Amino acid sequence: MAEELIVGGESKKERYSTLLPQVEALINHESDPVANMANISSAIMETFGFLWVGFYRVVGNELVLGPFQGPLACTRIKYGRGVCGTAWEESRTLVVDDVESFPGHIACSSASRSEIVVPYFSGGKVAGVLDIDSSELATFDEVDAEYLEKMMQAFGDSLF
Ligand code: SME
Repeated sequence: MAEELIVGGESKKERYSTLLPQVEALINHESDPVANMANISSAIMETFGFLWVGFYRVVGNELVLGPFQGPLACTRIKYGRGVCGTAWEESRTLVVDDVESFPGHIACSSASRSEIVVPYFSGGKVAGVLDIDSSELATFDEVDAEYLEKMMQAFGDSLF
């Protein structure tokens, strides 16, 4: 992906199928992780128009805000706290249909209704998470998890 993103497909799966190779291409052409986090956030936002798309990076014993698209967000999240900190603790993707029913959910925006958090790994350890918020309930499912995990696999593999 150079300067232009191709957004195509009727279904969510088709849109992800168009998006995934472009994200993989941008990661393959750029080694800087901040540049890649910024463009991955933009590419997902341009494709789907979610409320918030962005990264939190493991820095010491916290997650610290990285590149994102959307409204202002919380800057630091502790291990095991909120959806992001729980995904880090459990080293797995979390899909939350209704954030109000998730114990300890951190409300960065009152407009957020559902959320998916996908960890990325470096050297076998969680190095950070991709977080996506939706203003509607139950936006995310196994299709989002499958494709976003592929993107985070490619991103994690690019880290050194
Ligand atoms: N809701 C997240 C915090 C991050 S913001 O949504 C951008 C959580 O509970 O971890």
